[in-house]
Amino acid sequence: MAKDYKKLLPELDQSKLPRHIGIIMDGNGRWAKRHNRPRLYGHRAGSKSVRQVMELGVELKLEYLTFYAFSTENWNRPKDEVRGLLKLLKDHLKQEISELNRQNIYLQIIGSETGVKPDYLQAIRALAAKTHENTGMIVNIAFNYGGRLEIIEAIKKLEPSAISELTSEKFRQYLWTKDQPDPDLIIRTSGEHRLSNFLLWQAAYAEIYITDVLWPDFDKLEMIKALRDYQSRNRRFGGLG
Ligand code: FPP
Repeated sequence: MAKDYKKLLPELDQSKLPRHIGIIMDGNGRWAKRHNRPRLYGHRAGSKSVRQVMELGVELKLEYLTFYAFSTENWNRPKDEVRGLLKLLKDHLKQEISELNRQNIYLQIIGSETGVKPDYLQAIRALAAKTHENTGMIVNIAFNYGGRLEIIEAIKKLEPSAISELTSEKFRQYLWTKDQPDPDLIIRTSGEHRLSNFLLWQAAYAEIYITDVLWPDFDKLEMIKALRDYQSRNRRFGGLG
């Protein structure tokens, strides 16, 4: 496997890599079903793909990665699955901190505080804070994240007097991704053609790559395929390019 992806690396144009990639990790449940296992087994396998993609991100010197780990709508899943997902996320972070530090990755949790138990949020933020001396790739874990809620919460932070002079550039500073460039590329696994409330404001000009591969099967090789596809696009940002 490792060899396969290394073979494709030289085909990538290092000068045309995306600065920021957002990932909608979909298909864990279907993957588990195919393996006749409970859904949480699929989520656990999915956390291994997160590690692979981060590793490749560091190898390629990407600047920003955003993983859609838990949406504001995911609370509607069965209680056991929600409980399992929350535990998995915390355990995974705990287990990965030393590796993240070794790779100089700065990890942060983005999303809403509403509806999350404060001690849980505090615990995952405290784990992320252990990486805050790192100066390399920035990884956002979108947790309790919803694009519409992000925009509404941003609007609530605005001073009424600031509204008449508001521009896109000023507004973006109120978003949870403030100080970060918009994603150039959004990857969605498992074949669904939807944004599912992910980075709605920031995705305005993102290239979207959809693969049928289920998230637990998404590895470095699949990531390179996504990057190759991205590099074949002609990005015009509404102009004639
Ligand atoms: C979607 O698959 C996936 C999720 C809702 C959770 C993603 C979470 C992880 C990969 C776990 C750990 C995360 C990190 C960042 C370490 P689905 O359950 O909707 O799959 P299905 O559509 O096949 O049912």
